Parts: sequence; structure tokens; C-alpha cells
Amino acid sequence: MKPFDPSRKPPELNHIPGHIAVVMDGNGRWANQRGLTRTEGHRAGEPALLDVVAGAIEAGVKQLTAFAFSTENWKRSPEEVRFLMGFNRDVLRRRRDLLNEWNVKILWSGRRSKLWPSVITELEAAQELTKHNTGLTLVMAVNYGGRQEIVDAAQALVDRASEGKRVKVSERLFSKQLYQPRMPDVDLVIRSSGEMRLSNYLLWESSYAELIFREELWPEFTRELLWECIAEYSNRTRRFGKAVDSPLN
Ligand code: IPE
Ligand code: IPE
Ligand code: MG
Repeated sequence: MKPFDPSRKPPELNHIPGHIAVVMDGNGRWANQRGLTRTEGHRAGEPALLDVVAGAIEAGVKQLTAFAFSTENWKRSPEEVRFLMGFNRDVLRRRRDLLNEWNVKILWSGRRSKLWPSVITELEAAQELTKHNTGLTLVMAVNYGGRQEIVDAAQALVDRASEGKRVKVSERLFSKQLYQPRMPDVDLVIRSSGEMRLSNYLLWESSYAELIFREELWPEFTRELLWECIAEYSNRTRRFGKAVDSPLN
């Protein structure tokens, strides 16, 4: 599959969000609705992610962060956790060359502890392979939790202070301790499958993000749906606390 398909062109889009974060939710329900096992739903989510990556490139989005495995997902059955770990490892190995051809820079955001070493190896190999790429930045959030990220950042600052360094905490200094310190704020969070919650995703980075919840299940997601979300985002007014004075007369 090529990212640039002449028969699938993005519409005119006024404001392109620089950073979109997606919660790829609904794989299990998609599978169960078809009499399949949950793992088949995860498999069906892989082409959806690639299509959305292609759509993000086409639309001129700079960064896409994809929630692949949360720190809470360890609560699932051992079989599903084992499948998801192996699947994440295999997708990275299988797709990194294609993403590299698309000039995508792959990064990982998440905690090392508990994560399978083979998954970390593939994440680091993908980062290394694509580190000089200048196109879309694709952050894979694997073993990621927003609260854990904030706690880990706080711990890093405490460690610095206990070494005797002067630590004057500011938003800037704090954000430098996050898993991806140069990550820009999220402009738009998209969640599939009709669930309206953040599920511990990018709590710091999404503090002023626009939120769009779609009913489609993740395996049904396409680049066209991404472009619809961007069009909806374009029509929103982002105030960041400022007032807009527009009297009727
Ligand atoms: C999202 O789909 C994928 C992961 C959390 C890894 P789910 O597996 O949560 O699917 P549903 O929500 O049960 O349908
Ligand atoms: C969020 O989805 C995590 C990922 C998509 C990886 P979940 O399906 O795990 O979230 P909850 O349990 O419905 O909040
Ligand atoms: Mg879910």
C-alpha cells in the first residue's frame, strides 16, 4: 500500500492539527460482532493504523501518537496480554521498512518496566532506523499511562534535587522529563468505538486538546474518517481561556 493514492485525496482543510493523538479502541467488539476472537480484532486494527498514518501524511499532519497498549491493559487475560505483546513486536518488525520509505520518524512513549524486552528491542530498532526521517512523527504509546508518565517525571526531578542540584519546577522543566520531551502539545484527540473517556492517555500533553469521539470501531477506521475529524476540528474555535467578544449588533 502506498500512502499516496490518487483516488483518495484529502478535502480542502483549513486548520491542520499539528499533533493528533488516537485511541485505537473497539477491536474486541469488532471481532465479537463477527463471531471472531478478540485477537482477530487486534489483527484487523493493523491496516487501519497504516491507512490513518497515510492519511495523516497526505493531510500534512506533523505528529500522530497512537495508543497501542496502556499500563492498565495488563489487567486483561494472560492470553490477550501475551498476544498483544507479540503483536506489537511483530507489527513494528513487519512495518518499519514501509514506514521508513514513507519518511516517517518512529518514536516510543511508555514505561520500560514490565514491557517485554523483545518489544523494547523492536521499538528501539524502529527508532534507530527512522531517526533521520523528516516526515510525519509517529509516536507509538506502548505500556503508556498518563499518570505514570507524570509520576516518573516528578521522580526524575526529585532525583536531581537529591543530587544537590537546584530544581526550580516550571511547566517547561517538567515537560522535559516526560517520555518524549520534545513532544508538542496534542491539538486533537480522536477516540474510536463510541467510548467518551481518555483512559489515562496523554494527560499532560492533551490539557487543551480538542476531543472527537467517533462511533466507528477501530478496524473500520480509514484515512477518510481521519480527514472528517480534521474538518470538524477546523470548525472549532480554540480559545485557550481568552474571551471572544462578538456582540450581535
Ligand atoms: C483497543 O481495542 C486495543 C487495545 C486496547 C490494545 P479493545 O481491545 O479495547 O477493544 P474493545 O474496547 O474491547 O472492543
Ligand atoms: C485504551 O483502550 C487503551 C488503548 C486503546 C491501547 P481501553 O479499551 O483499554 O480503555 P478502557 O478500558 O475502555 O477505558
Ligand atoms: Mg477498549
